[in-house]
Amino acid sequence: MTATGAAAALTSAPAKVILFGEHAVVYGEPAVAAAVDLRLRVRVARGPAGGPSTINDAPLASAYHHYLSEALKAAGEDKPVAFQVEASVPGGSGLGSSAALVSASLLGLLALAGKADRASPVPRETLARLAYDVEAAAQQGRASPTDTTTVTEGGAILVGRERGPGFLWEITRGERRWSLHKVEPPAMPVVIGFTHERGRTATEVAKVARFVARTGFAKDVIREIGDVAREGAKAAARGDRAQLGKLFDRNHNLLTILGVSTPRLNRLCEVARRHAHGAKLTGSGGGGSMIAVSDEPEACAAAIRKAGGAAWVATLGAQGVRFE
Ligand code: MEV
Repeated sequence: MTATGAAAALTSAPAKVILFGEHAVVYGEPAVAAAVDLRLRVRVARGPAGGPSTINDAPLASAYHHYLSEALKAAGEDKPVAFQVEASVPGGSGLGSSAALVSASLLGLLALAGKADRASPVPRETLARLAYDVEAAAQQGRASPTDTTTVTEGGAILVGRERGPGFLWEITRGERRWSLHKVEPPAMPVVIGFTHERGRTATEVAKVARFVARTGFAKDVIREIGDVAREGAKAAARGDRAQLGKLFDRNHNLLTILGVSTPRLNRLCEVARRHAHGAKLTGSGGGGSMIAVSDEPEACAAAIRKAGGAAWVATLGAQGVRFE
């Protein structure tokens, strides 16, 4: 590691899918997520002295680029930085592009500061904690560490209340506490369908928070999503596709009741189910993406494309953040 730091660093982080438990995990229920082999790449370099920090050559505005502005603060960087970002998944697609951007950018910023390089990478736990703080700040405090830990650590992650096998670390915020675990990624492809509608995590999480504050019914739905996620974690460990599909459908219905699905998400789930054991929205919803578990993934992806979505057949358990 050089004391002065690198002039530039090239890093990448994977996208992620939440198999079970989005939204409910914010309230302490379990969730299962996996990194997928679609990556976001960031080149972080020193910008011209006296100029603004930039993203893809445009000035960085804290009103529009919350995540990068917060990442600069978290890394203690006060000199101009030029970020060049290239992503295989679109922003707002519910596939963790913000978390991947934060994690990959933080690693690059630490390299510029001389605190990390290929030979002495920063511990993943340190990065995951920093990335969570950045994401929570950018989302006005409402976030679980699911996305940031998944894209930083890679593989598959089980989030729970208690420590169990595969325990990685614990993250707390206020009265909430999440125990993060590394689990075996289900050995199966997952079909991802993007609606082309962009969702905003902060908006959807705030919507659910208002519902939960108003009614006991919403709290019951959150608890039931937790039950589905507990069963889902077992089905994923067994590689039981039929059961996973049933649980995807149940999880999707519960998320629809919470108000975070959209007609397009419902439509893509419906067409995917003709070639799948089940399908659900993934991530925060309000647009974004859905996933399906299928024995004929290419036919399932083709049906999603025919219905107007973008589709990928992805492998679960990609490598976490890294230098390229
Ligand atoms: C977003 O990918 C997942 C949510 O559960 C929010 C979070 O966990 O911070 C909706």
